Amino acid sequence: MSSIVRLSAAVVALAALLLAACGGSVPGAPKARAAQASASSESAGAESAGASSEGRPSAGGTSGPVPLLPMKAIMASTMADDLKKIGLDVQNLPPLRKLEPEKLRLVMKTFSKALGTKCTGCHDEDDYRAPTPNAKITSKMWDIYVRGFAQTDGSALYCDSCHDGKMKFLDRHDRHSLAGWMCENYTEKLRRVDKQENSCESCHGDPYKARFLSTWAM
Ligand code: HEC
Ligand code: HEC
Ligand code: HEC
Repeated sequence: MSSIVRLSAAVVALAALLLAACGGSVPGAPKARAAQASASSESAGAESAGASSEGRPSAGGTSGPVPLLPMKAIMASTMADDLKKIGLDVQNLPPLRKLEPEKLRLVMKTFSKALGTKCTGCHDEDDYRAPTPNAKITSKMWDIYVRGFAQTDGSALYCDSCHDGKMKFLDRHDRHSLAGWMCENYTEKLRRVDKQENSCESCHGDPYKARFLSTWAM
């Protein structure tokens, strides 16, 4: 590795570290700038992925140009009862792989509801067993996010806490504000179940990688 690469990796790691201590940061605060810069440089060429209009459906009641959706704060899951009916405790979910087939089938409905999608949002309609990118991402979302994190205020964390009825909900137009939003919601309002300190690296890795979900889809 060249020293320049190593240096820039160190700078990015440092920026992410600083962001970990982003208490009270408002969208657009200077602290978020470094991550924004690295975010834009790393994601060159992948711009359209998250910025498609598909990511911003009708909610919000405005009809002007994007962005249409003000991002909402992470929230308490409203699906604890749905899960309880299936015999699952939202605060103590087993790994997805360990679910009995009958429970797994019933959990499917909670995915559709939480993400506001039909079954075919994740499945090939001709073969529900065929692996798809969204099913693969879902397995990780369950195991790494829902099981690996908890809300600091003790409220239930499930798919709907972040997704709120949408598959895509991040407004990536302004990475600067998004970095501030990430800090307020995913760093400050979440803690790690493994008791390690929660920071941008928990999800973005060290060195900081802006986009990683495509690797989850493989
Ligand atoms: C958000 C993504 C998502 C949605 C929406 C979703 N599923 Fe799934 N589905 C998965 C995942 C993840 C698995 C676990 C197996 C895997 O990794 O592919 C799975 C597994 C299944 C299986 C079991 C396949 C097997 O190997 O035995 C069936 C059947 C199924 N889903 C049906 C449905 C139906 C019916 C709906 C709509 C009510 C639905 N799914 C909605 C992600 C999803
Ligand atoms: C801590 C927050 C959080 C939780 C909890 C969470 N997700 Fe996600 N998920 C995200 C973020 C952020 C994205 C990227 C969304 C975007 O691009 O707008 C995402 C993306 C996805 C995608 C890819 C969507 C696409 O079309 O690119 C799927 C599928 C998904 N999540 C399923 C789930 C499921 C199912 C659950 C519950 C088992 C879940 N997620 C729980 C934060 C979360
Ligand atoms: C709980 C997990 C989690 C934490 C913690 C987290 N993020 Fe994210 N972040 C995501 C997910 C998921 C995405 C979507 C990644 C993708 O599209 O591959 C994302 C996307 C982003 C993006 C947009 C990237 C792009 O190029 O489109 C920025 C900027 C960002 N995060 C900044 C931060 C910063 C700064 C922190 C720390 C203050 C942070 N995030 C903490 C999960 C997290």
